[in-house]
Amino acid sequence: MTARPYIVGNWKMNGTRAMLAEARAIGRAAARFPGIDVGLAPPFTLLHAMADEVPEIVVGGQDCHASAGGAFTGDVSAPMLVDAGARFCIVGHSERREFHGEDDAMVRRKAEAALAAGLGVILCVGETGAERDAGAAEARVAAQLDGSLPRSEGAAARLAIAYEPIWAIGTGRVPSGAEITAMHRAIRARLVALHGEGGAAIRILYGGSVNPANASELLATDEVDGALVGGASLSADSFLAIVGAANGLIAA
Ligand code: PGA
Repeated sequence: MTARPYIVGNWKMNGTRAMLAEARAIGRAAARFPGIDVGLAPPFTLLHAMADEVPEIVVGGQDCHASAGGAFTGDVSAPMLVDAGARFCIVGHSERREFHGEDDAMVRRKAEAALAAGLGVILCVGETGAERDAGAAEARVAAQLDGSLPRSEGAAARLAIAYEPIWAIGTGRVPSGAEITAMHRAIRARLVALHGEGGAAIRILYGGSVNPANASELLATDEVDGALVGGASLSADSFLAIVGAANGLIAA
Protein backbone atom coordinates (compact mmCIF):
# COMPACT_ATOMS: atom_id res chain seq x y z
CA MET A 1 0.00 0.00 0.00
CA THR A 2 1.33 3.43 -0.91
CA ALA A 3 1.19 6.35 1.50
CA ARG A 4 -2.10 7.50 -0.07
CA PRO A 5 -4.46 4.71 -1.08
CA TYR A 6 -6.86 5.57 -3.91
CA ILE A 7 -10.37 4.12 -3.62
CA VAL A 8 -12.59 4.83 -6.62
CA GLY A 9 -16.20 3.84 -7.24
CA ASN A 10 -17.35 3.23 -10.80
CA TRP A 11 -21.13 3.52 -10.96
CA LYS A 12 -21.23 2.33 -14.59
CA MET A 13 -24.71 2.86 -16.13
CA ASN A 14 -26.39 3.17 -12.74
CA GLY A 15 -27.80 6.11 -10.87
CA THR A 16 -30.36 8.87 -11.25
CA ARG A 17 -30.50 12.09 -9.25
CA ALA A 18 -32.02 10.21 -6.32
CA MET A 19 -28.65 8.45 -5.95
CA LEU A 20 -26.90 11.74 -5.18
CA ALA A 21 -27.95 11.18 -1.56
CA GLU A 22 -25.59 8.17 -1.47
CA ALA A 23 -22.80 10.31 -2.93
CA ARG A 24 -23.38 13.04 -0.34
CA ALA A 25 -23.20 10.44 2.43
CA ILE A 26 -19.94 9.17 0.94
CA GLY A 27 -18.58 12.72 0.84
CA ARG A 28 -19.49 13.47 4.46
CA ALA A 29 -17.77 10.30 5.63
CA ALA A 30 -14.77 10.71 3.32
CA ALA A 31 -13.91 13.88 5.20
CA ARG A 32 -13.15 11.62 8.18
CA PHE A 33 -10.49 9.75 6.15
CA PRO A 34 -8.05 12.46 5.09
CA GLY A 35 -5.33 9.90 4.35
CA ILE A 36 -7.36 8.27 1.57
CA ASP A 37 -8.04 9.65 -1.91
CA VAL A 38 -11.71 8.86 -2.57
CA GLY A 39 -13.25 9.16 -6.02
CA LEU A 40 -16.54 8.40 -7.73
CA ALA A 41 -17.21 8.04 -11.45
CA PRO A 42 -20.96 8.49 -11.97
CA PRO A 43 -22.72 8.45 -15.33
CA PHE A 44 -22.23 11.70 -17.29
CA THR A 45 -25.74 12.86 -16.35
CA LEU A 46 -24.80 13.08 -12.65
CA LEU A 47 -21.29 14.43 -12.97
CA HIS A 48 -21.97 18.12 -12.65
CA ALA A 49 -24.37 17.78 -9.73
CA MET A 50 -22.11 15.35 -7.92
CA ALA A 51 -19.04 17.55 -8.34
CA ASP A 52 -21.06 20.47 -6.95
CA GLU A 53 -22.69 18.65 -4.08
CA VAL A 54 -19.83 16.39 -2.98
CA PRO A 55 -16.70 18.56 -2.82
CA GLU A 56 -14.95 16.24 -0.36
CA ILE A 57 -14.12 13.67 -3.05
CA VAL A 58 -12.84 13.71 -6.62
CA VAL A 59 -15.45 13.08 -9.27
CA GLY A 60 -14.58 11.67 -12.68
CA GLY A 61 -15.87 10.39 -16.00
CA GLN A 62 -16.07 6.74 -17.00
CA ASP A 63 -14.87 7.47 -20.53
CA CYS A 64 -14.10 10.36 -22.86
CA HIS A 65 -13.72 10.89 -26.57
CA ALA A 66 -10.22 11.26 -28.00
CA SER A 67 -11.15 14.58 -29.66
CA ALA A 68 -11.83 17.83 -27.86
CA GLY A 69 -15.04 18.45 -29.78
CA GLY A 70 -16.83 18.00 -33.08
CA ALA A 71 -19.36 15.88 -34.94
CA PHE A 72 -19.40 12.85 -32.67
CA THR A 73 -23.02 12.24 -31.74
CA GLY A 74 -23.47 10.84 -28.26
CA ASP A 75 -19.86 11.32 -27.19
CA VAL A 76 -18.42 13.50 -24.43
CA SER A 77 -14.97 15.09 -24.60
CA ALA A 78 -12.36 15.49 -21.88
CA PRO A 79 -12.67 19.32 -21.78
CA MET A 80 -16.44 18.85 -21.30
CA LEU A 81 -15.74 16.59 -18.33
CA VAL A 82 -13.48 19.26 -16.86
CA ASP A 83 -16.20 21.86 -17.42
CA ALA A 84 -18.66 19.64 -15.53
CA GLY A 85 -16.30 19.41 -12.55
CA ALA A 86 -14.48 16.15 -13.28
CA ARG A 87 -10.94 15.72 -11.99
CA PHE A 88 -10.15 12.34 -13.54
CA CYS A 89 -11.34 9.96 -16.23
CA ILE A 90 -11.37 6.17 -16.43
CA VAL A 91 -10.21 4.89 -19.82
CA GLY A 92 -9.98 1.40 -21.28
CA HIS A 93 -12.47 -0.28 -18.98
CA SER A 94 -13.07 -3.82 -20.25
CA GLU A 95 -16.75 -2.99 -20.82
CA ARG A 96 -15.69 -0.17 -23.18
CA ARG A 97 -13.18 -2.45 -24.88
CA GLU A 98 -15.81 -5.20 -25.28
CA PHE A 99 -19.05 -3.35 -25.98
CA HIS A 100 -17.61 -0.36 -27.85
CA GLY A 101 -14.78 -2.06 -29.69
CA GLU A 102 -12.07 0.10 -28.13
CA ASP A 103 -8.58 -1.15 -28.93
CA ASP A 104 -5.33 -0.24 -27.20
CA ALA A 105 -4.50 2.54 -29.67
CA MET A 106 -7.87 4.20 -29.10
CA VAL A 107 -7.56 3.85 -25.34
CA ARG A 108 -4.17 5.54 -25.53
CA ARG A 109 -5.59 8.45 -27.54
CA LYS A 110 -8.35 8.85 -24.96
CA ALA A 111 -5.82 8.80 -22.12
CA GLU A 112 -3.74 11.47 -23.85
CA ALA A 113 -6.86 13.58 -24.47
CA ALA A 114 -7.83 13.35 -20.80
CA LEU A 115 -4.33 14.33 -19.69
CA ALA A 116 -4.21 17.21 -22.17
CA ALA A 117 -7.46 18.52 -20.66
CA GLY A 118 -5.89 18.45 -17.21
CA LEU A 119 -7.57 15.31 -15.91
CA GLY A 120 -6.05 12.43 -13.98
CA VAL A 121 -6.39 9.10 -15.75
CA ILE A 122 -7.24 5.63 -14.48
CA LEU A 123 -6.17 3.23 -17.21
CA CYS A 124 -7.80 -0.22 -16.94
CA VAL A 125 -6.11 -3.43 -18.04
CA GLY A 126 -6.92 -7.07 -17.42
CA GLU A 127 -7.06 -10.52 -18.95
CA THR A 128 -9.96 -12.83 -19.76
CA GLY A 129 -10.51 -16.08 -17.87
CA ALA A 130 -9.33 -18.04 -20.90
CA GLU A 131 -6.11 -16.02 -21.05
CA ARG A 132 -5.47 -16.65 -17.34
CA ASP A 133 -6.15 -20.39 -17.75
CA ALA A 134 -3.74 -20.49 -20.69
CA GLY A 135 -0.98 -18.88 -18.63
CA ALA A 136 -1.12 -15.80 -20.83
CA ALA A 137 -2.42 -13.24 -18.31
CA GLU A 138 0.83 -11.30 -17.82
CA ALA A 139 1.59 -11.25 -21.54
CA ARG A 140 -1.89 -9.92 -22.28
CA VAL A 141 -1.64 -7.15 -19.70
CA ALA A 142 1.89 -6.23 -20.82
CA ALA A 143 0.60 -5.90 -24.39
CA GLN A 144 -2.29 -3.71 -23.22
CA LEU A 145 0.12 -1.45 -21.35
CA ASP A 146 2.51 -1.22 -24.28
CA GLY A 147 -0.39 -0.27 -26.56
CA SER A 148 -2.46 1.98 -24.32
CA LEU A 149 -0.20 3.66 -21.80
CA PRO A 150 0.03 7.41 -22.44
CA ARG A 151 3.62 8.55 -23.03
CA SER A 152 3.34 12.33 -23.01
CA GLU A 153 5.54 14.47 -20.79
CA GLY A 154 4.26 14.49 -17.22
CA ALA A 155 1.77 11.65 -17.83
CA ALA A 156 3.10 9.46 -15.04
CA ALA A 157 2.31 12.03 -12.35
CA ARG A 158 -1.42 11.99 -13.16
CA LEU A 159 -1.84 8.33 -14.00
CA ALA A 160 -3.15 5.33 -12.09
CA ILE A 161 -3.49 1.80 -13.43
CA ALA A 162 -6.42 -0.44 -12.51
CA TYR A 163 -5.72 -4.15 -12.87
CA GLU A 164 -9.13 -5.67 -13.43
CA PRO A 165 -9.21 -9.32 -14.48
CA ILE A 166 -12.31 -9.54 -16.67
CA TRP A 167 -13.35 -12.83 -15.08
CA ALA A 168 -13.43 -11.15 -11.66
CA ILE A 169 -15.70 -8.22 -12.64
CA GLY A 170 -19.17 -8.60 -11.17
CA THR A 171 -18.66 -12.33 -10.58
CA GLY A 172 -17.74 -12.55 -6.90
CA ARG A 173 -14.54 -14.36 -7.91
CA VAL A 174 -11.18 -12.77 -7.15
CA PRO A 175 -7.60 -13.81 -7.90
CA SER A 176 -5.42 -15.08 -5.08
CA GLY A 177 -3.21 -12.59 -3.30
CA ALA A 178 -0.17 -14.19 -4.93
CA GLU A 179 -1.72 -13.78 -8.39
CA ILE A 180 -2.50 -10.12 -7.74
CA THR A 181 0.97 -9.39 -6.37
CA ALA A 182 2.65 -11.11 -9.32
CA MET A 183 0.54 -9.17 -11.81
CA HIS A 184 1.06 -5.83 -10.06
CA ARG A 185 4.84 -6.46 -10.04
CA ALA A 186 4.73 -7.22 -13.75
CA ILE A 187 2.75 -4.01 -14.34
CA ARG A 188 5.22 -2.03 -12.23
CA ALA A 189 8.12 -3.37 -14.30
CA ARG A 190 6.40 -2.21 -17.53
CA LEU A 191 5.63 1.19 -15.99
CA VAL A 192 9.24 1.70 -14.98
CA ALA A 193 10.46 0.53 -18.38
CA LEU A 194 8.11 2.96 -20.16
CA HIS A 195 8.19 5.91 -17.73
CA GLY A 196 11.43 5.57 -15.78
CA GLU A 197 11.37 6.95 -12.27
CA GLY A 198 7.86 8.37 -12.71
CA GLY A 199 6.62 4.85 -13.36
CA ALA A 200 7.72 3.78 -9.90
CA ALA A 201 5.21 6.14 -8.25
CA ILE A 202 2.13 5.34 -10.36
CA ARG A 203 -0.57 3.81 -8.18
CA ILE A 204 -1.73 0.36 -9.22
CA LEU A 205 -5.30 -0.37 -8.11
CA TYR A 206 -6.99 -3.74 -8.01
CA GLY A 207 -10.55 -4.03 -9.37
CA GLY A 208 -13.03 -6.89 -9.72
CA SER A 209 -15.56 -7.97 -7.06
CA VAL A 210 -14.07 -5.83 -4.30
CA ASN A 211 -16.61 -5.76 -1.45
CA PRO A 212 -16.70 -4.96 2.27
CA ALA A 213 -15.94 -8.59 3.18
CA ASN A 214 -12.78 -8.94 1.08
CA ALA A 215 -11.53 -5.34 0.99
CA SER A 216 -9.09 -5.53 3.90
CA GLU A 217 -7.41 -8.62 2.53
CA LEU A 218 -7.26 -7.34 -1.04
CA LEU A 219 -5.96 -3.91 0.00
CA ALA A 220 -3.35 -5.47 2.28
CA THR A 221 -2.04 -7.55 -0.62
CA ASP A 222 1.53 -6.63 -1.56
CA GLU A 223 1.77 -4.07 -4.38
CA VAL A 224 -1.93 -3.03 -4.18
CA ASP A 225 -2.29 0.77 -3.89
CA GLY A 226 -6.07 1.03 -3.89
CA ALA A 227 -9.23 -0.32 -5.48
CA LEU A 228 -11.61 0.34 -8.36
CA VAL A 229 -15.02 -0.73 -7.10
CA GLY A 230 -18.10 -1.37 -9.22
CA GLY A 231 -21.21 -2.88 -7.62
CA ALA A 232 -20.15 -2.23 -4.04
CA SER A 233 -19.75 1.50 -4.74
CA LEU A 234 -23.49 1.95 -5.36
CA SER A 235 -24.39 2.18 -1.70
CA ALA A 236 -22.70 4.52 0.74
CA ASP A 237 -22.59 1.80 3.41
CA SER A 238 -20.70 -0.75 1.36
CA PHE A 239 -18.41 1.76 -0.35
CA LEU A 240 -17.54 3.42 2.95
CA ALA A 241 -16.76 0.04 4.48
CA ILE A 242 -14.13 -0.36 1.74
CA VAL A 243 -12.75 3.15 2.32
CA GLY A 244 -12.68 2.35 6.04
CA ALA A 245 -10.75 -0.85 5.35
CA ALA A 246 -8.12 1.16 3.50
CA ASN A 247 -7.97 3.62 6.36
CA GLY A 248 -7.53 0.79 8.86
CA LEU A 249 -4.50 -0.41 6.93
CA ILE A 250 -2.74 2.94 6.84
CA ALA A 251 -3.56 3.55 10.51
CA ALA A 252 -2.22 0.10 11.46
P1 PGA B 1 -17.24 -4.92 -9.73
O1 PGA B 1 -16.76 -4.02 -10.96
O2 PGA B 1 -16.65 -4.33 -8.48
O3 PGA B 1 -18.74 -4.83 -9.76
O4 PGA B 1 -16.75 -6.32 -9.97
C1 PGA B 1 -15.45 -3.51 -11.00
C2 PGA B 1 -15.24 -2.70 -12.25
O5 PGA B 1 -15.70 -3.10 -13.33
O6 PGA B 1 -14.62 -1.62 -12.19
